[in-house]
Amino acid sequence: MKVLITGGAGFIGSHVVDECIEHNYEVVVVDNFSAGNSRNLPEDCKVYCVDINEAHLKNVFEEEKPDYVIHLAAQASVMKSFEDPIQDGLTNIIGTLKVLEYARLHCVKKVVIASSAAVYGNPQVLPVDEKFPLNPLSFYSLSKWSGERYAQLYESLYDLPSCILRFSNVYGPRQNALGEAGVVSIFINQLLNAEEMVIYGGHQTRDFIYVKDVAQACRTAMESTKTGIFNISSCSETTINELFAMTSLLAGITAEPQKYPLRQGEIEKSFLGNEKAINELGWQATHSLEEGLSETIVTYNASK
Ligand SMILES: NC(=O)c1ccc[n+]([C@@H]2O[C@H](COP(=O)([O-])OP(=O)(O)OC[C@H]3O[C@@H](n4cnc5c(N)ncnc54)[C@H](O)[C@@H]3O)[C@@H](O)[C@H]2O)c1
Repeated sequence: MKVLITGGAGFIGSHVVDECIEHNYEVVVVDNFSAGNSRNLPEDCKVYCVDINEAHLKNVFEEEKPDYVIHLAAQASVMKSFEDPIQDGLTNIIGTLKVLEYARLHCVKKVVIASSAAVYGNPQVLPVDEKFPLNPLSFYSLSKWSGERYAQLYESLYDLPSCILRFSNVYGPRQNALGEAGVVSIFINQLLNAEEMVIYGGHQTRDFIYVKDVAQACRTAMESTKTGIFNISSCSETTINELFAMTSLLAGITAEPQKYPLRQGEIEKSFLGNEKAINELGWQATHSLEEGLSETIVTYNASK
């Protein structure tokens, strides 16, 4: 079976590539390398350096005839979505639409779409489950939600099965410090390089999920007969202060970060219920935060 992975050279995508290869899938990557890096990919991986908005995407589908698509390519920065909402919409809405349309035309068996906890906005009730009302607070979260709705409509109009996965804060090896959950890679980089450290707030909570668990969720969702929306999370809350303390302990480096007030607009508390993914997809995170952080620190140390 052949899987086309968009955004496969990126942080999460490259782990999805590894996961699919480990499970004996033939893998084809489509990436425009705006944020991805070929060093993230195995040497023999087939890669198309193509933008999902380019007409050439059609030829890739025609040539490769993939059985499955895992769509991770995105403008993945909340900050950039404020700076350039048009580019954000072009990539995350129109790009997703093109991927879905070619998947339909080429009778793809299933599409897995990467979405985000950001679609929930500032949650009033915790943990947030999939039925929680959506309230996008950035152009990024709005464009991710649009991608979800297109996928749902393609499923209801054209029987194109899809799983929409709303990831919480993903962390792990190969993460770019500019990503959504950049705080883990920022802390590790700063600690290992003895840089000055700053924490804004500190009591705000996040739901950190290890990237290898996310990659497994993508493959499991692709193989499942179930369709629909699923939170992919650890369903546990960690404060930024706790995260810092654990990272510094595991790295064996002590530091005294400067403390500043929480930045305006930052969500105070966030964690996602993951029961639906556990019960319906049979997926469960297998890495504790401590295990995931330890593995991440080892890889950062090795690449120094
Ligand atoms: N990192 C997180 O915590 C997180 C949380 C929730 C959702 N997500 C979603 O997961 C997916 C992967 O995110 P990531 O953190 O790995 O980001 P990333 O930036 O590392 O990966 C995105 C990849 O897509 C590629 N890309 C971007 N625009 C493209 C285009 N127009 N055509 C082709 N390729 C393009 C980039 O080069 C990059 O390799 C995204 O859809 C993102 O919205 C990430």
